[in-house]
Amino acid sequence: MDRGDWRALCRIVVRFLPIAAALHAAPMRWPQRLFYGMLCAMIDNSTENTFGATASEPPVGETTSFGFRPVGVSERQGLVNEVFASVAGRYDLMNDLMSGGLHRLWKNDLVTQVGPPKSDRAFRHIDVAGGTGDVAMRVIKRGGEGCRSTICDISREMLDVGQSRINKAGLGSVIDVVEGNAEALPFERGTFNAYTIAFGIRNVTNIDQALTEAYRVLKPGGRFLCLEFSHCDVALLDRIYDFHSFEVIPRLGKMAAGDAESYKYLVESIRKFPRQEAFAGMIRTAGFERVSYHNLTGGIAAIHSGWRL
Ligand SMILES: C[S@@+](CC[C@H](N)C(=O)[O-])C[C@H]1O[C@@H](n2cnc3c(N)ncnc32)[C@H](O)[C@@H]1O
Repeated sequence: MDRGDWRALCRIVVRFLPIAAALHAAPMRWPQRLFYGMLCAMIDNSTENTFGATASEPPVGETTSFGFRPVGVSERQGLVNEVFASVAGRYDLMNDLMSGGLHRLWKNDLVTQVGPPKSDRAFRHIDVAGGTGDVAMRVIKRGGEGCRSTICDISREMLDVGQSRINKAGLGSVIDVVEGNAEALPFERGTFNAYTIAFGIRNVTNIDQALTEAYRVLKPGGRFLCLEFSHCDVALLDRIYDFHSFEVIPRLGKMAAGDAESYKYLVESIRKFPRQEAFAGMIRTAGFERVSYHNLTGGIAAIHSGWRL
């Protein structure tokens, strides 16, 4: 990096570090919530859509993409696993730094849609690619006594961080941690009332297969919800987002986690992920009904929903 890069990076860190550190250290208090809520409201494009769109083709055949790089289908998951093994220890801090804490609001929105019952009625939730346990812990905190959650992730390193967070929060008896691949979930058909996947599905090699598995493990009447980075269509915001993605995030990754390459992959994989309508079509193809999505923060992220009826 030259001196100009370093100066730009310092400016960014000085602006964002105190916010991210505060968010990382403590749950958001009302002034933070108000600030981020207003920020989101200004740029939100929360239009609910229902689709009959055709599915876009997932990567099949000999090669697929790892970020912008073509790789063999059989080698991709190993490369993804290396990324998450490398970032696991700093993952939560980096999440706050990269999103300025916005991922917390997006996850709260996701959990609101899961809507775990507040009563002692039995409710089983699975968070696939659940990593360090953010979504599962939120679901349990929101739900009542009958609520149980399972985190399933392919990365032992991410799960280890998640397990120690869960133990620290005293939630070990209500959250299970299971190592497993989204493409071949180690659970019986019809086990869960709700399936979530947050910032996980773009890392899966065969997305259609993961969606088929999501359908299989849900009970009839169960809901699929996917929170994922998506495609921003708001003029100017898309430019800022591009700059942030390609110029800021890899540098933050290098500074805070000593690993620019992993963060470069994370950004590139977002751009390779299907657009909102195309992904909705893939969910329908897997068998889900009443498929819809809503954009968050101008489409930087989106929540897709489908029902197993
Ligand atoms: C960006 S992290 C998201 C973690 C968490 N859901 C969150 O929102 O903070 C992506 C996660 O997907 C997991 N993952 C990647 N491929 C997977 C697969 N095929 N099956 C299950 N998990 C996978 C990674 O190990 C990693 O923990």
